[in-house]
Amino acid sequence: MIVALLNQQGGVGKTTLALHLAGVWACQGHRITVVDADPDACAVEWSELRAQETLPSRFTVIAIARDTLHRELPPITRDVDRAIIDGPSHIEPITRSALMAADFVLVPVQPPPFQGLAFVETLRLANGIMTVRPQLRIRLVLNRCNARAGVTQNLTQALADYDPPALTSSITERAVFAEVMQSGRLAFELPHSSAAIQEITALAAEVERIVP
Ligand SMILES: Nc1ncnc2c1ncn2[C@@H]1O[C@H](COP(=O)(O)OP(=O)(O)OP(=O)(O)O)[C@@H](O)[C@H]1O
Ligand SMILES: [Mg+2]
Repeated sequence: MIVALLNQQGGVGKTTLALHLAGVWACQGHRITVVDADPDACAVEWSELRAQETLPSRFTVIAIARDTLHRELPPITRDVDRAIIDGPSHIEPITRSALMAADFVLVPVQPPPFQGLAFVETLRLANGIMTVRPQLRIRLVLNRCNARAGVTQNLTQALADYDPPALTSSITERAVFAEVMQSGRLAFELPHSSAAIQEITALAAEVERIVP
């Protein structure tokens, strides 16, 4: 299975969620490769930092930030259970290629304000690809939400009826997630992460229910 984290908007949590889905599934015994499709190479840098700190790799991270991703992936994914594409922002040809490669697309969105343009643009690209790949599944996922904020609740309700809908699982704004990129660690390798672990595990389980 190939899962892609895509949103043409930057900073919405594509890399953070890609690494954590990979971490959860790797800990469950699946063979995982994260494909860094972003020329900024944040996932690759994270894995290099990890290697410098002699932390266990848990999963492979490779860089394919090219619009030929969909043609390059099949031989790479043959030997893994799941590949997770960490998409770029504002690079339409690579996002299109990821949409051609993926079985399941997660679009992280953040409240507030609801970032309409790039998000809708990503869905427009996805709808175009679905005319030739109707089997492609897409879901939104709320990231960096504050469960107590009324605006988040309103957005959650609005997105539940959206097409494509949002997942029931969402990810809260947490300091432990913000430490991930600088530390080369996953949230569950850092202190005070039990709530973060629960959220990420629930997200991974919900994705698996949609694309087993
Ligand atoms: N749930 C969260 N709680 C706190 N911080 C978060 C959360 N999700 C992401 N962040 C932080 O927000 C920033 C952007 O996240 P991330 O790099 O994952 O986004 P991105 O969509 O991959 O961005 P880009 O398009 O630039 O690659 C990072 O500093 C990350 O640590
Ligand atoms: Mg990123």
